[in-house]
Amino acid sequence: MRAAIAAHEAGVDVAIVTKVHPVRSHSGAAQGGINAALGNRTEDNPDNHTFDTVKGADYIGDQDAIELLCQRAPQEIYQLEHWGAVFSRHETTGKIAQRPFGGAGFPRTCYAADLTGLVILHTLYTVCVKYDIPTYEEYFVTDLIEDAQGGCAGVVAYDMVHGTIESIGAKATVMATGGAGRVYRPSTNSHSSTGDAMSLGLRHGVPLKDMEFMQFHPTTLSPSGVLVTEGARGEGGYLLNADGERFMSKYAPNKLELASRDVVSRSEATEILEGRGVDGCVMLDLRHLGRDKILERLPQIRELSMAFAGVDPIDAPIPIRPGAHYHMGGVHVDINGAAPHMPGLFAAGECACVSVHGANRLGGNSLLEGVVYGAITGESAARYIASVNGKGFTASPAAAKDYERQVAELLARDDGPKQHELRNRLADAMQDKVGVFRTGPELEQAKQEIDRLKEEFQHVTVDDKGSIFNQQLIHTIETGYLIDLADTMVSGAIARTESRGAHSRTDFPERDDDNWMKHTLAYLDDNEIRLDYSEVTMTKYEPQVRSY
Ligand code: FUM
Repeated sequence: MRAAIAAHEAGVDVAIVTKVHPVRSHSGAAQGGINAALGNRTEDNPDNHTFDTVKGADYIGDQDAIELLCQRAPQEIYQLEHWGAVFSRHETTGKIAQRPFGGAGFPRTCYAADLTGLVILHTLYTVCVKYDIPTYEEYFVTDLIEDAQGGCAGVVAYDMVHGTIESIGAKATVMATGGAGRVYRPSTNSHSSTGDAMSLGLRHGVPLKDMEFMQFHPTTLSPSGVLVTEGARGEGGYLLNADGERFMSKYAPNKLELASRDVVSRSEATEILEGRGVDGCVMLDLRHLGRDKILERLPQIRELSMAFAGVDPIDAPIPIRPGAHYHMGGVHVDINGAAPHMPGLFAAGECACVSVHGANRLGGNSLLEGVVYGAITGESAARYIASVNGKGFTASPAAAKDYERQVAELLARDDGPKQHELRNRLADAMQDKVGVFRTGPELEQAKQEIDRLKEEFQHVTVDDKGSIFNQQLIHTIETGYLIDLADTMVSGAIARTESRGAHSRTDFPERDDDNWMKHTLAYLDDNEIRLDYSEVTMTKYEPQVRSY
């Protein structure tokens, strides 16, 4: 939506195509906040924000892109506020309040209680409504339209409500479908987070960057995977093991619970693996914050804990564990959000890899990337359209017809596995073998299972033969996307024989800057993943030992 607004403001005729209603997009699940060095109460500034992000990324983020993210952050926060986003306020100054978050040197996370993503989502939607930007709701994008020169000429989409398959032509296409957390089970991600854009790009020759880096959020509920915001630790929550010890003092003596996410998740996993967990979890204790603070700053966390863990955090600690949360990797795009391998194609947000998060994202930088690079990408798509304005485009009905044929073939098949069987096996393999800690042999086992799943998916069958709201058909197409993406993740992880950020190999426990200070690019060639590498952009931040 931020990209659509920017393109509209640049004078472009723009429309949004979306699998779910815009305010049901997964950004609405983002709880704790959005980072910006506003400098309200501290000496904080965008350079500090940049340094923290570079360090959090374990030095593999592109520093020019990170600088742009952090420099433009305050402008985007004030823009959201002026559009009506109701941020929580500092009690005495009345300015936008900022809470501490993991890996940050200053309290710089702006928030709306623990509903920040929802507030931003609703704000952007009201602007889209004000601008009269047409929205194709419940249109599931199933393919990109490729023109004769290999450029992107729009998308093919399944209109779920009417049961038809449509071609939607466009001079520029910005993909913003979020992450692929559903490749794991459990996950903090909504069921719609199936990495659609990443897989579509991959199938059209666009490489995916740094897919081996999957973030495990330190505090998710068991067994559901529902998120408990980092804001709970930002407000002062403690992590305790079965002995009641605040164990983070062993792993991150300075930042404790507010070390960066990869560090906290590994610490929790170590406690659990070494027998100091509680039923596969550790405990998040908020009791000392007191009832009033919990009700004011963390109301949703309280409700979720009561509903999904049967615990009221006012009275008892919450059992939590690391859970799949965010993909640092994504569609390889440049600093303008353009996919260099396919003219006319752009990507922003979690589905894209600019790369501003490198090997580990800091909490609060995801909503920020969504708005900053959403705006930048919308602006750059508008510039692209101006540059090709003489060139016409067609809606290419043939592309829809071609996809209709593929769907008809799938629905005609009666003998083969069901998508849910394949998806469950995929998620089990990823959860068991491609988790917080990884080893070469386990990654190889995951790869073998993915290869089997790829083969079996060729014969997948769908029981529901109808056309209207065919959820089974949608889930089947999504499962195909997830299998593709798991393959890129595991292939990249097998090759990267080092530990960096969220990619922690116990058989290669050290970071290896000599050999691995580079981005992974995964291509799909004849249904096999091929890896290549590209340089990391450095500006002024030399790699250092990373400790918290
Ligand atoms: O913990 C959270 O509130 C999540 C924030 C994020 O992933 O940026």
